[in-house]
Amino acid sequence: MPETGQPFGQYTSPTNHHHPWHLQFVQEIIASLYHGDAYLIKRTFPKKFMTDMIQNVHKYCLEKPPEFYKMLEGSPDFHRMIDIETGKKYSVDSCKHSCYFYHWNGDPLNLFETINYSWRVLKQLMGLDYNQYEKNTPKDGVVDRIQVVRYPPQIGYLEPHTDPYQHQRLIFSGYPSKRGVDYQGGGFYLIGAGDRIIEIEDQIDVGDSLVCYATVYHGVAPSDRDIEPDWTKSDGRWFLSMFSNASDARTVRYTAAPVKLSVPGVIPIQALEVERS
Ligand SMILES: [Fe+2]
Repeated sequence: MPETGQPFGQYTSPTNHHHPWHLQFVQEIIASLYHGDAYLIKRTFPKKFMTDMIQNVHKYCLEKPPEFYKMLEGSPDFHRMIDIETGKKYSVDSCKHSCYFYHWNGDPLNLFETINYSWRVLKQLMGLDYNQYEKNTPKDGVVDRIQVVRYPPQIGYLEPHTDPYQHQRLIFSGYPSKRGVDYQGGGFYLIGAGDRIIEIEDQIDVGDSLVCYATVYHGVAPSDRDIEPDWTKSDGRWFLSMFSNASDARTVRYTAAPVKLSVPGVIPIQALEVERS
């Protein structure tokens, strides 16, 4: 009998997909996700795919100037260095180097095929069609976007927040780098009852992914606090996000929302100084 919090990988699936056991699995996994459990899915993406992705995105960012485009019809792929000041203009405070990819731009780094292979399974878990939004463009109101992120050492972070659940009920994130190897300390955390930080990074290997209900509180704490940040390097912690976003063609857009908690140690000193000044 599956227990709440048990990873998907520990289930053995009977071949008959209409077996009552399956109905029970569906009911239990849905109850668990609504309850706020998070699942770390081991080996979601091939390790080589993740390490190649870091290299290719890093090269892409060095070759192209940083830009910004709203999610409107015809938006190109682009990358943007969101420093602490710029990050405060977004719905959720952050400091990160983000590279955004849409399917209509020819997928220059060959990300969509491998990612959609897993994203399609997760979309079904979210109650969507397996290929929902895949062909959408901004005029349709919701678009799939792949975001590859580098959190620069010392200053990279994402304040505690919730993500919008209206178009995809679960967040689906991939991990291209590993704590203790590629970076030290910090990284992704969940927030449990009583504003308690729930650490999961030590269980994460390159290629794993995480799913949980979008409204579960979570954030990213700075890593490598003794290393000087350099926006042109590729060291440190990387992150992969698959999200079906409300486009800027909508008059009412659901976006992420900050959760103002005083959790010690998760915001870089530089961001706290900007707030005080
Ligand atoms: Fe998030």
